[in-house]
Amino acid sequence: MEHKYLNKFPDDFLWGAATAAFQVEGAYDVDGKGISIQDAKNGSNKFHDTSVTADHYHRYQEDIKLMKELGLKSYRLSIAWTRIYPDGKTKNQKGIDFYNRILDELIKNDIKPLVTIYHFDHPQCLQDAYGGWYSREIIDDFVRFARTCFEEFGDRVHYWLTICEQNNVVLYPKLIGGFLDGVDSEKWRFEVHHVMTIANARVIKLCHKLLPDSKIGPCVGYSAIYPKTCKPEDMLAALNQEDFRFNYPLDLLCFGRQNKLVKRYLEERGIDVVLSDEELLEMQGVNPDFIAFNYYQSAVAEFCPLQEEEKQPEFNLEGKKGNMSFSQFPGLYQEASNPYLERSDWDWEIDPIGFRIAFRKLYDRYQLPLMVTENGLGAYDTLEGNEVHDQYRIDYLEKHILQMKEAINDGVEIIAYYPWSFMDVLSTSNGYSKRYGFVYVDRSDEDIKELKRYKKDSFYWYQKIITANNI
Ligand code: BG6
Repeated sequence: MEHKYLNKFPDDFLWGAATAAFQVEGAYDVDGKGISIQDAKNGSNKFHDTSVTADHYHRYQEDIKLMKELGLKSYRLSIAWTRIYPDGKTKNQKGIDFYNRILDELIKNDIKPLVTIYHFDHPQCLQDAYGGWYSREIIDDFVRFARTCFEEFGDRVHYWLTICEQNNVVLYPKLIGGFLDGVDSEKWRFEVHHVMTIANARVIKLCHKLLPDSKIGPCVGYSAIYPKTCKPEDMLAALNQEDFRFNYPLDLLCFGRQNKLVKRYLEERGIDVVLSDEELLEMQGVNPDFIAFNYYQSAVAEFCPLQEEEKQPEFNLEGKKGNMSFSQFPGLYQEASNPYLERSDWDWEIDPIGFRIAFRKLYDRYQLPLMVTENGLGAYDTLEGNEVHDQYRIDYLEKHILQMKEAINDGVEIIAYYPWSFMDVLSTSNGYSKRYGFVYVDRSDEDIKELKRYKKDSFYWYQKIITANNI
């Protein structure tokens, strides 16, 4: 279809790029920082090591200079909870000073910060003390941390995300972290959902109270879900997957109601996560200003009979196509591959039209402005001289941005787009083998070298899109 309506993006459209603290900062024990659950995982596999990563802690000025050159209107960063509250309870001024330096530098360069309050990295001591997000005790600790962020940084930060991908934290607990061995996975999953949803609601309300001119919303990991065939059972399976993965937390935050299908499923399994009247009252009037979502791929759902065995979702950690195993939730859905799509080396199915579908689905249901806070291609990159020819990444992003433009033409209100990632980050699943950035960070999993930065071809390509405010 031709772009009859939209010739360029809205003037105030936020072209951005994203990272997260534990994936770029390094300096994991510097200036009083406490150990997070991500630091505690160091060495648990050959890829995971947060101690240096891209050393953004010491090189933020050089990195922000590159952001400026790229033309970013906005930059999504996260605040490491353990810099601000190393033991979860006591404030650390040096951690606050670090983010003050970053925020000042961004503002000086006309780059609007979008701050994620929580990106997978709560203090390990809170995990040890009461099981982290599995306990309601964390809510007060989290609200205290968020309040400090609002009070210290709210004069410069006008866009906030509460918790990054609450729905994936609960779906992939072993990959992301925080799971408690010995606890039933469904019980853990929905208890954490419950606790995070209340924490989300309190923090959104607090932000509205303290910073009435700021905007804040939740951030969900989202995929378009297709039924495997037009068999009605498969369509039901697709709807089940949507309810479980996306609608459950968002319905609570946006509509103040607990999804009935999910509630029934849990009751049948003897899991009690029914919200009390008091909690349901707390979920009223949360009013997020927008919904942020991260989109990498779509998914397929197929009917899964009750007598099938349960299989938890897993990742292809090999980086070789064809190593994907699919989850099964008997009575709800099982995942399947999509024969119509190309996939990345990690078997993530590449689906730009699914991106447009995601916009439409989310907007139809919630009628809130949308922000894309992650979208990108994890790939093996090669540094040749000073150059990285990542045409595959350009192709991926170009097709997705074109579909985003179509979604605006479809009537969806989209305010921002943050590709993942500004620079190469420590991938949650595959360290430095799997890269996403516009800026190449010269290091490998085994050798941190000098951590020099190189602009990839995609850097120059994205720079042109931002300048033209169009594709
Ligand atoms: C998102 C996370 O879910 O996926 C990021 O918010 C992560 O932190 C990204 O890096 C890509 O996942 P991975 O495993 O390829 O790094």
